[in-house]
Amino acid sequence: MDPIRTVAAMQAAADAARAAGRRLALVPTMGALHEGHLALVRDARRRGDHVTVSVFVNPTQFAPGEDFDAYPRTLAADLDALERAGGVDAVFAPTAAEMYPFGLPPTTTVSVGALGRHLCGPHRPGHFEGVATVVAKLLLACRPHLAVFGQKDAQQLAVLRRMTAELGFGVEVVGHPVVREADGLALSSRNRYLGADERAQAIVLHQALVAAEAAVERGERSAAALEALLRREVEAAPLARVQYAEVVDAEALQPVDTLAARGPSGGRYLAALAVFFGDTRLIDNTTLIVR
Ligand code: PAJ
Repeated sequence: MDPIRTVAAMQAAADAARAAGRRLALVPTMGALHEGHLALVRDARRRGDHVTVSVFVNPTQFAPGEDFDAYPRTLAADLDALERAGGVDAVFAPTAAEMYPFGLPPTTTVSVGALGRHLCGPHRPGHFEGVATVVAKLLLACRPHLAVFGQKDAQQLAVLRRMTAELGFGVEVVGHPVVREADGLALSSRNRYLGADERAQAIVLHQALVAAEAAVERGERSAAALEALLRREVEAAPLARVQYAEVVDAEALQPVDTLAARGPSGGRYLAALAVFFGDTRLIDNTTLIVR
């Protein structure tokens, strides 16, 4: 399948599918597709009957010093992977010049306010504005009824739920559960950079999150105690360096002192981790539910 390269051609294809009565589903990606992405594609196929996957390594969401230049670009392999997974109706793979016709940085951007203040936000300046802006543009190019995102990037998902609701995109945002290796490590295009020892120890992220879930089950309600537990569990791995271990409410993503069933997000909290192994930064999270 030949990818669609321009916004105009993508809009024309989407409009034709809409006119034919199809329910359009979009899965935005930066390529380097793995089983996690393909699970989103299968989810999209169940929910819609015209699936578009976008593949675009978005320059504006990489902070200075991050791996934009080194980010894997594997379009041919990505097209093969989509084919093997049963195929999609369209692949939208624009150039940066097509997405940012007035150059970089773009003049018109989406800001995300307090949703970018915690977790990854302070460590990746401009990242969520970059994500929100490019996803707004992808939605305007692909005109889907629904878009599927991974819970793996929980802060991104919360930002995009808020953006689409607040700006009135009229698109359903679907969150897909984290796809993991058999030992619990969340799939990520960055896992390929882990050495063998790092890879073996990287399971501590998931183990720490499971330990936090168990602590909440046993009645722990202190966010500080849960954060200390997360940190302790991760630091059991000698090669791990914690960037943050935080518990915030699941929608507004703000810190809390005490978890409560009647809390700001209906008793739902996000426990989230960012951990370095060497230069490789891994993230993972779980939703803590207080009844
Ligand atoms: P990317 O990192 O390529 O991820 C594309 C989608 O796949 C995201 O919604 C992400 O959460 C999901 N995903 C990745 N690994 C996953 C896993 N192990 N389990 C479940 N879902 C997983 O996220 C981006 O691209 C970009 O920020 C993007 C939204 C495309 C905007 O540029």
